[in-house]
Amino acid sequence: MTRHFLRDDDITPSEQEEILKLALELKANPYSQKPFAGPKTVAVIFDKTSTRTRVSFAVGISDLGGVPLIIDSQGSQMGAKESVADTARVLDRQVAQIVWRTYAQAGLDEMAAFSKVPVINALSDEFHPCQLLADLLTIQEHKGKLAGLKLVYIGDGNNMANSYLLAGAMAGMHVVIVTPEKYSPASSIVAEAQEIALTTGGSVSVSHSSAQAVVGADVLATDTWVSMGQEAEKAQRVQDFAGFTIDSELLALAKPDAIVLHCLPAYRGYEISAEVLDGSQAVIWDQAENRLHAQKALMVWLDQRAK
Ligand code: CP
Ligand code: NVA
Repeated sequence: MTRHFLRDDDITPSEQEEILKLALELKANPYSQKPFAGPKTVAVIFDKTSTRTRVSFAVGISDLGGVPLIIDSQGSQMGAKESVADTARVLDRQVAQIVWRTYAQAGLDEMAAFSKVPVINALSDEFHPCQLLADLLTIQEHKGKLAGLKLVYIGDGNNMANSYLLAGAMAGMHVVIVTPEKYSPASSIVAEAQEIALTTGGSVSVSHSSAQAVVGADVLATDTWVSMGQEAEKAQRVQDFAGFTIDSELLALAKPDAIVLHCLPAYRGYEISAEVLDGSQAVIWDQAENRLHAQKALMVWLDQRAK
């Protein structure tokens, strides 16, 4: 049966481990797997802008022997003119996989329901699961393990927070999400992550105090306060998130060997200080590179199950 990757928990914890292991193998031997030889084409659709996702999928697909077909949806019939269901039924006869960055998660669900080929979420308003595969790979490389580590995410209870909750719990990590009260992650996602954590030995919690939460942290993470689609709320958000910046003073409260993650793009002086982002504890460039290796592993893994 065709598998899709629309949210972090569309795979099991052991499948997550398998994909991360494959990612490490592909990082060591980038051209060792050619599932798209032919070459087959993979569609990569963008309803929102992107640098990392665009580049890492294009390079990854070509490394795997395929051809990336990058579609900016404004230049296509998708959306107001043609339904997601009809788009899926056109694409799946011609491409090996469909990668899509969009707004509502429901669109991805519809695409997957009508597509015979794997559909991958390249960021939605609710989740950013490909980013989390890269983040976990980065943590594993720097810390030698995932289970049992304390990861504290400080910022908006957004797509990144949701993905940290689910994917972090799946990896057996202790995930703490710190937000201003008004920007807490959805309680349904927290509850789902809590259920997962019960099976993996991890834990999840939500806090509204950065200073308390970061004590004992192995990993600090953050993301923009103003996600794509929220530009009109910028002034209000900058005001509401005051005091939720990762700066040197806050980082000093974490473990001395704590690492700092940011999915990028970063806004220095807002969610993270320049000193921390450009400092020695930040592993953000490894993290950005790992998008490539993690996504290649995911595409290989999905291809194996699509046959
Ligand atoms: N982190 C990430 O997804 O970056 P892009 O928006 O540049 O793809
Ligand atoms: N939360 C951010 C992530 C960008 C990679 C957004 O959705 O814009």
